[in-house]
Amino acid sequence: MNNKDNRGAFIAFEGIDGSGKSTQSALLIQKLRQEGIPCYATMEPTDALIGSLIRQVMTGRIKTDNKAVAALFAADRLDHLLNEVDGIVSKIESGVTVVTDRYYFSSYAYNSVHMPMEWVIKANEQSSAILRPSLTVYIDIDPDTALDRIAKNRFRQELFEKKSMLVKVRDNYMKAFKLLEKEEKVVIVDGNRPQEEIAEAVWNAAREYF
Ligand code: ADP
Ligand code: TYD
Repeated sequence: MNNKDNRGAFIAFEGIDGSGKSTQSALLIQKLRQEGIPCYATMEPTDALIGSLIRQVMTGRIKTDNKAVAALFAADRLDHLLNEVDGIVSKIESGVTVVTDRYYFSSYAYNSVHMPMEWVIKANEQSSAILRPSLTVYIDIDPDTALDRIAKNRFRQELFEKKSMLVKVRDNYMKAFKLLEKEEKVVIVDGNRPQEEIAEAVWNAAREYF
């Protein structure tokens, strides 16, 4: 999907925790504003009701089964797409480009650590039928570097922020990209570089959608 028919583009950033997704989302938004392209930054889990519930699970404040967590992520995503106040679909239909920090590939990569990836892809079929990203940008970073960055900048580590987990998550991302290569447009950007260089690589990949 792109804005050639007056719809906004939809760009999703993906990567392991600490890979630089939020930094690059912000830099892309800054670039789009400079170019005069109407745009909106968002993220998953959302800060709405279901997203808040998920954050409580991620920090260990409430406990539930991993399958239930995967279903919560799928529900949060549908709300993110469809809710009447600031849903992604209505923004895109009104010509606004949406940049999201995580979308369904995060579910495929993270939630498949605990269950078959096919199940997770199926659980998100409604979202993929409603809206596939114009482009998914995967910021590829070495898990050790990611953990160093997280350790420097956070008071506590969340559920997935352990090396063995990040290695599995990265493998799952690669598996999902391969599995869905016919349906999805994905670019992998080397994230082990200064942020300005990464931003340039992101813009080179994304500019064709504007
Ligand atoms: P994510 O959203 O993927 O968790 P962030 O964008 O929050 O990642 O980045 C994690 C930390 O690493 C932040 O403190 C950020 O300032 C820093 N950071 C981001 N990009 C780079 C980079 N290219 N080089 C070094 N540090 C970076
Ligand atoms: P967040 O705190 O935004 O990640 P980051 O540390 O990259 O800034 O996301 C919380 C966690 O949620 C993150 O470890 C990835 C995980 N997650 C899933 O397990 N499934 C999903 O569908 C999404 C969107 C995120």
